[in-house]
Amino acid sequence: MANFKILFVCILAFVHLVVGQSEVPDARPPPSERLYNSSTIENVILDVSSRIGDPTIRQIFQNCLPSTLDTTVLWTRSRSAEFPIPYTYIITGDIQGMWLRDSTYQVNPYVPYARNDSELRELILGLINTQAEMILSYPFANAYFPLEHWQAEIDLPPHSAAENDTVHPPPDLTKVFEAKFEVDSLASFLYLTKYFYEETGNTEFLDNPFWKNATELVIQTFRDLQAGTLEVLDNEPYKFTRPTRTQTETQNLYGLGNPSKTCGLIRSFFRPSDDSTIFQYLIPSNAMAVVGLRGVAQILNDVGRFPELANELSLLATQVHVAITRHGIVQHPQFGQVYAYEVDCYGSHLFMDDANFPSLLSLPKFGFVEKDDPIYLNTRQYILSPDWNPYYARGLYGGVGSPHTGLQQTWHMAVCMQGMTSLDEVEMSRMLWTVRNTTAGTGFMHESYDVNDPSEFTRDWFAWANTVLGDFILYLDKEYPHLLL
Ligand SMILES: *[C@@H]1O[C@H](CO)[C@@H](O)[C@H](O)[C@H]1NC(C)=O
Ligand SMILES: *[C@@H]1O[C@H](CO)[C@@H](O)[C@H](O)[C@H]1NC(C)=O
Ligand SMILES: *[C@@H]1O[C@H](CO)[C@@H](O)[C@H](O)[C@H]1NC(C)=O
Ligand SMILES: *[C@@H]1O[C@H](CO)[C@@H](O)[C@H](O)[C@H]1NC(C)=O
Ligand SMILES: *[C@@H]1O[C@H](CO)[C@@H](O)[C@H](O)[C@H]1NC(C)=O
Repeated sequence: MANFKILFVCILAFVHLVVGQSEVPDARPPPSERLYNSSTIENVILDVSSRIGDPTIRQIFQNCLPSTLDTTVLWTRSRSAEFPIPYTYIITGDIQGMWLRDSTYQVNPYVPYARNDSELRELILGLINTQAEMILSYPFANAYFPLEHWQAEIDLPPHSAAENDTVHPPPDLTKVFEAKFEVDSLASFLYLTKYFYEETGNTEFLDNPFWKNATELVIQTFRDLQAGTLEVLDNEPYKFTRPTRTQTETQNLYGLGNPSKTCGLIRSFFRPSDDSTIFQYLIPSNAMAVVGLRGVAQILNDVGRFPELANELSLLATQVHVAITRHGIVQHPQFGQVYAYEVDCYGSHLFMDDANFPSLLSLPKFGFVEKDDPIYLNTRQYILSPDWNPYYARGLYGGVGSPHTGLQQTWHMAVCMQGMTSLDEVEMSRMLWTVRNTTAGTGFMHESYDVNDPSEFTRDWFAWANTVLGDFILYLDKEYPHLLL
């Protein structure tokens, strides 16, 4: 049987060689330069590749799926002699800091394979442990440097991005790479814990006191940021300004942001793009917080640990969920009831979507709604319409973009997300081929590209987007394999 399989793969490889060649190169670093080797992931690449008909798509998959492991896992090892828990540091790619959100998604496609592979399990447990300790050092940051005693080992940017910012409370600039408070950063930590547990059944993180303390601090921080602007005037939990000419890099009203009224939602000063919010109740990030809080409560209930913490997590999840339903769903002039991108709970709301996850588009992907939820489907109609979403790039290779990179720029991760959340096979296939045709010959995902000229792109080393492509192909292979053949 095994021989038969090998023979089949050989024949398939031969046919592909004759029939067509990839339009993009094998662009993985040579084995000796890869930062992390995983025989499990190499086997996944071989196995899934044998079921991908188009040689270009196959090559893009082979480049992108292992991109996080190949190029961004700076280390995964024991924290210290006194405290020998695994500890992992993962950079974004071309920016040498670790983002809570990016690192979570960067390992996302590997999590299911950690069940049967103890090394991958250590890698991801190590990431959860590292994130916990970073959050404890300062809960308002989006990105961090490694622990002090390991900083000397890598070529870090000489300055923290926060060095000229006025942030309250002030961060330690040797630990914090950037001090933008984004609800989804903390939600990503909870989400990674939940997803890791669901896929592996492993609960070792519960024995790490940093993990429990960090989870308590996340709850405290979310609770502090549930207070509206006027309620905590002169006693603000957080404020941020940056000297800049770019509106999206700072916050209005000397760092307070545009006023929000207390309503149960959590104020996010920045979006998952690291751009500032206009109204601070950012719905996709609050939705991800609900999923993360509820998921971690479920773990604690399953294993009967920390019942008080489990209660607090559930209570907060319910409060935020109720507030999303009450304030985050609004009437659209064309499509009926939809999720707004941002609201202020004074009644104002913003209709748009941004490519970065969590986005409105991604709500079913991380389990907040079903793909066929009627309000989600209405929402999807407006965010995928150039007439109704100002950040939808209209043109040859259209898709959702972001104010982060300007108008008429499509983001690869949003194209993949559109494919993964679709109910329509024609749309899935179109998204797959859009990605295939827009790597500008590099064989990798980019942050964004000019909607009519993909050779004009931003960020040539963006591991998060690469692993999202990996996720997309693995999803199709599992659910719609005929679309890959
Ligand atoms: C990965 O394996 C290659 C050999 O295939 C080796 O040269 C390289 O040092 C390994 N990388 C790590 C981080 O162990
Ligand atoms: C893990 O191993 C079990 C038992 O051998 C198998 O059923 C399962 O499919 C494996 N899971 C993955 C993700 O490889
Ligand atoms: C901070 O300001 C100095 C002086 O204008 C500038 O050289 C430096 O690049 C700024 N740092 C950052 C991270 O923007
Ligand atoms: C966790 O928090 C408890 C209670 O505040 C404290 O006593 C303990 O030292 C903390 N542990 C760690 C590892 O931070
Ligand atoms: C991608 O390119 C192929 C081959 O050039 C073409 O047949 C296909 O229509 C294109 N698809 C999309 C979605 O751009």
